[in-house]
Formats: sequence, structure tokens, C-alpha cells
Amino acid sequence: MKVGIIGQGYVGLTISAFAAEYFDVVGFDSNPKIVEQLNLGVSHIEGIESSLLAKWIRAGRYKATTRGSDLSECEILVIAVPTPLTGDRKPDLSYIDSACKTIGQNLSKPVLVINESTSFPGTLRNFIKPTIEKYSPAPIQHMYAISPERVDPGRSDFNQRNTPRLYSGLTLEAAKRTRDFYSRFCDKLVEVSSPEVAEAAKLFENTFRQVNIALVNEFAQIAHALGIGVYETLDAANTKPYGFMKFTPSAGVGGHCIPVDPTYLAAVAEEHGVPATFIRRANEVNLEMSEYIVKRVAEDNDGSLKGKSVLVVGVAYKPNVADVRETAAELVIEHLRSQGAVVSWHDDVVGNWKGESSAPLQGADLAVVVTKHDSVDEKKILASAPYVFDTTGRVKGAKGL
Ligand SMILES: NC(=O)c1ccc[n+]([C@@H]2O[C@H](COP(=O)([O-])OP(=O)(O)OC[C@H]3O[C@@H](n4cnc5c(N)ncnc54)[C@H](O)[C@@H]3O)[C@@H](O)[C@H]2O)c1
Repeated sequence: MKVGIIGQGYVGLTISAFAAEYFDVVGFDSNPKIVEQLNLGVSHIEGIESSLLAKWIRAGRYKATTRGSDLSECEILVIAVPTPLTGDRKPDLSYIDSACKTIGQNLSKPVLVINESTSFPGTLRNFIKPTIEKYSPAPIQHMYAISPERVDPGRSDFNQRNTPRLYSGLTLEAAKRTRDFYSRFCDKLVEVSSPEVAEAAKLFENTFRQVNIALVNEFAQIAHALGIGVYETLDAANTKPYGFMKFTPSAGVGGHCIPVDPTYLAAVAEEHGVPATFIRRANEVNLEMSEYIVKRVAEDNDGSLKGKSVLVVGVAYKPNVADVRETAAELVIEHLRSQGAVVSWHDDVVGNWKGESSAPLQGADLAVVVTKHDSVDEKKILASAPYVFDTTGRVKGAKGL
């Protein structure tokens, strides 16, 4: 069976690599540079080894393409394209629209369409299905299903096989075929009663994280004001064996999911007359952390950062990945510069970012650790500047939240 995966990023390439063991996979991506690299057997995603990709290419099991017509023989199509926010922070379904166009224009036989892109409840039924039908030259009865992705890039203990997967179809047949597809490479599949439940569950999972991160970030500020250690207090609370889950403070949230998905939930809530004040405020608290951190750093340094050289250590949005989407480091750097600091950053995992390169881990007046990769030596961080402020709780001996 031939399977087409639309979007070859974190989600799409991960699915492609697992599915290629059982199916012929066509990896469709609109970015020719990514496609060219993938066809050379070079993976751009942490957790997907180039050697695995090369193995599937050699076996004739995987091919990347920018040509929609290469999808025409596929029996299953998985949508894994970005779902960001627009400039005014509203859900942006333009990438899904474009994926629907590719399907509509290139599939002349009925197929199973599965959406893995995160979006608000109703997206499969009220957007994806009618949009594909709009772009199809003739009426075709495709089957439609959803199976929200839960991949955590860079994580090794949970993967496609051992992370339970939710799914639901617009019809029973669509659900059954979706189960047959994923059960090859996922051990636990959980069917829910409607696509809307699966879509909402995905948004709620990430909103839960965002709200709890905001809560612990607010608590870090309270603990500092009270003169008590936030980490010791959290560890103490965590001795309760039930009803508590430990989250740790940080410079904010990053990546394609936690800063974005809750806004999809808030948008659909407000459209239905429910003010999502809690979700909106959590987002604000996380965004405000960068300003709070810079204020703390300035307070510790005679109240002024003017002219001081500040090294931001770690600009990826989380440890051990090169992903800088929505990284809190961006706001930290912005606030430092607005205070007159001369800012450079060190992150050899990221390498280059926004036209700047990773600076050496040394010689600054002050250092602010935003993300601590495992490969970065703690002692070298402490030696990089006479004053080090750590937002991660992973650099012992530094000042911190
Ligand atoms: N990254 C994660 O950890 C994660 C986890 C769960 C769910 N998700 C969701 O999965 C979806 C994809 O996220 P991602 O992290 O894989 O994004 P990504 O940016 O890593 O990859 C998306 C890929 O899609 C390609 N693309 C964009 N428009 C296209 C189009 N019209 N046709 C074909 N290719 C197109 C891009 O070139 C890119 O390579 C999003 O909805 C996201 O919220 C992501």
C-alpha cells in the first residue's frame, strides 16, 4: 500500500520513518531544499537518523517529492503541515488549505485522509472535507479521520510505538481503516466518539501544560518575593503521592505547540461565547517571564545593564533540539537589548539563528541561561561570566529563579 505524508517536518518525517517499515511512503513537502536533502538520505529532524532514512530510500520504501502528482497512487494521505497563528494571533489554516488543494487536485480515486495537524474542534468536518471537495475537479467520496500527533522531538523514552494514539473518523469505515494503518507501528490506539473529541483532547493536553507552566512561573516570582527557594518548595510539594504534578519554572514556553495550541482553543471558545480568560492569562504570564528575568538580572547588577556584554546561553526552545520556533530566548534578548545590553548568544546545537552565529562560551560580563543542552558543560557556563543567572534550574551554583 502507498501512503502519502503531506509535510515532512517534525511530525511528517517521524511518521514517514515509522510507516516506511510497512508501507511505500511518498513524503510530500512544498520546500524543495528539504525534499532534496531527504532524497539524499539526510534527515533534518532530531530522533530520525539519516541512516534509517537512507535505508528506506535504498529499499525503495521512501521517496520525497514536491510534485503533487506523485501522490496520485496513494491510498492513505496524512496531513502534517504547520498550524501557526496569524499576525493578530488567530488560527492560521492556510497551510491546511494548501494541503487540501494538493489532495483535491491530485487524487482521482477515493482515499483515506487523516489529519495529524493540530487544530480546533470541527476542523476535519467543517474545513478539511469541504476544502478538499472544493478543489476536486469531480465529486469523490474520500474517507476522513483524525489522529492528533503527540510526538515530543528529542525524546527517546516515548515514541510512535509506545505513545497511545487517539483517533476518530467521520464514518465507521474511516475509523476502522485509520486503526488498521496506525496499529502497524503504534501499540495502543484509543478510539473516541467523534473527530471533535480527538481535536479538543489534543488542544486540552497542550493547554494543560501551558497553564501549569504559567502557574509555576508565577509561583517562582512569589517564592522569590517571599525569600524562599522555588525548587525546594516544588520538591516538597511533590512528596504528595497524589493530586500534584511537578512543573518547573522557565523563561517561558516555546516550540510549535505549547505557545500556539491554547490560542486555538481560546479562539474557538470565544467564537462560541465562552471567554477563555484563564487560557489567555496563562499565555500572558509565560510571555512576561522574559521581562521579569531581565528585571532580576538588572537588579542584581546595580540596576543597569547599559553597555554590559551579556551572553544568552541556549536559544533553542528546549534542551537537545535545534528548534527555535517561538523560543523564549528571543524575548529575553529583546528585553536585554532594550536595556542597553550588548547581547550575543551561545548555542552550538542551533549554530545559526536570525543572521547571527553562536558565540564562544566565554568572556561576557553576564550570562543568562535560557536553555541547557546536555552537551554544554555546567562548569564552562559558570566560567563564562562573573555573574550567571540560570532560568533552567540545571546550573548549580548560579543565581536563578
Ligand atoms: N513539532 C511537534 O512537536 C508537534 C507535536 C504534535 C503536533 N504537532 C503539530 O503537527 C503539525 C506539523 O508540525 P511540525 O512540527 O511537523 O511542523 P514543521 O514546520 O516541522 O513541518 C511542517 C512541514 O510542512 C511543510 N509544508 C508547509 N506547507 C506545506 C504544504 N502546503 N504542502 C506540503 N508541505 C508543506 C513545511 O515545508 C515543513 O517541512 C502542526 O499542526 C503542529 O502543531 C507538532
